[in-house]
Amino acid sequence: MMENNNNKSTLFDAELIKRYSKPGPRYTSYPTAPMFSEAIGPNEFRNEIAETNNSKEPTDLSLYFHIPFCDTLCYFCACNMLITHDDDKKENYLRYLKKEIDMIAELTKSDRKVSQMHWGGGTPSYLPPSQIVSLGKYIRESFTFDDDAEVSVEIDPRGLTREHLEAFKEIGFNRISMGVQDFDPEVQEAINRIQPEDMTIQVVDWCRELGFKSINLDLIYGLPHQNVEKFRKTVRSVIDIKPDRIATFNYAHVPWMKKHQTIIKDEWLPSTDEKLKLLHLVIDEFTSAGYEFIGMDHFAFPEDEIVIAQNNGTLHRNFQGYSTKKGCDLIAMGITGISEVGDIYAQNVKTLDEYYEIIDNGELTTFKGYKLSHEDQLRKEIIMQLMCHFYLDKKSIGDAHNLSFDEHFSDALEAMEPMREDGLLEITEESITVLPVGRLLIRNITMAFDEYLTDKKEKKFSKTI
Ligand SMILES: C[S@@+](CC[C@H](N)C(=O)[O-])C[C@H]1O[C@@H](n2cnc3c(N)ncnc32)[C@H](O)[C@@H]1O
Ligand code: SF4
Repeated sequence: MMENNNNKSTLFDAELIKRYSKPGPRYTSYPTAPMFSEAIGPNEFRNEIAETNNSKEPTDLSLYFHIPFCDTLCYFCACNMLITHDDDKKENYLRYLKKEIDMIAELTKSDRKVSQMHWGGGTPSYLPPSQIVSLGKYIRESFTFDDDAEVSVEIDPRGLTREHLEAFKEIGFNRISMGVQDFDPEVQEAINRIQPEDMTIQVVDWCRELGFKSINLDLIYGLPHQNVEKFRKTVRSVIDIKPDRIATFNYAHVPWMKKHQTIIKDEWLPSTDEKLKLLHLVIDEFTSAGYEFIGMDHFAFPEDEIVIAQNNGTLHRNFQGYSTKKGCDLIAMGITGISEVGDIYAQNVKTLDEYYEIIDNGELTTFKGYKLSHEDQLRKEIIMQLMCHFYLDKKSIGDAHNLSFDEHFSDALEAMEPMREDGLLEITEESITVLPVGRLLIRNITMAFDEYLTDKKEKKFSKTI
């Protein structure tokens, strides 16, 4: 068992948070997506899969399927999604997805078990139940699943029927994550997402009746017309629903990347001070209700696997956020999906036309990516350990990589010095420990180890708080 940071409390210091707030990555990968280039294409991806097949003990697989379609546009949305009302268009996409599955299944050795699968979007539950079952069965026939695989899907309660959930259950899904964002009618109207509280409660009830093992609800703070008084009501309603996990995302307002977000007028957004109060409220309310703050917007009950993994040092972070399945090779299928296999990241093309054309030519749809150097691997390990455990064993990193940590990372240590002085972290000869006041600023802390951040690259990200 790894040494750990046992002090799991989080202290809220509004002045410090304001001072440190700046654009920064969420580190679902390191290096981050702006570093990806066309040096990685289908050949590099194929070779890397072959190499990982041949390693002495091939690692388990984690499969991600991107289902981009949605019924209506939520004005805040920063996901890779497409609005359609055409079931044939969805059917056509699934036809191509199945061809991609054939290619990947042929490349990965059949003795490699799938220990994790996730369908994300867009909105996977916007597929009709018959298409859900058809895709699910196809995947199950193409790969070998571990009996206790973690199988999760993102759903939207709007337009969802019990039959959709029965379809997910039939093909072995055991975890459900659903978008809520905010229950307040004025906020819902401003974001073009009318989703009455009763509708969400009904869907949660169905999930429980059908025996899904874990339910997650997504909220967003920083949306138009939110304030402390109204958001407290939403948060308390969520506490009454008692989901196993809660994600409370910081609204990423990036209108330069997502044009439709310009519909949301700046003057509708809560001020920085109000937004900080919303974050404070979220942490206070959920931790008082018995949830633990895992870090980076996530809460779960102490007995949840994700908290146990954090306690025993096995928590992991990838493109889907936190995960308990460390050491898998992640293969993403569908448009925009990003794989993480061996030493490379590989991203699929972003448009349906490109995706269909490449697959018609019998090729993998990778269009860019990144091959990690030894130095990148080392920094990735450090950033992920800090993100997941708020603790870093400097000595064991130094020993494992045959280097003097303090010499090798003198720049990072220098960059962290003001944070140490501000009480965000403690640095000793052996370790770095993120202190309660630093937990909310973990992105700023880990940025010290990012070799590639320049002012220009930083500006592409949303604000850390
Ligand atoms: C793919 S969606 C979840 C499934 C489904 N499409 C839905 O919205 O119910 C993933 C989640 O990303 C979050 N999200 C989307 N755009 C965001 C933004 N601009 N800032 C922060 N979170 C965002 C929302 O909480 C959303 O529930
Ligand atoms: S938030 Fe979900 S439902 Fe809304 S547009 Fe984005 S992906 Fe679609």
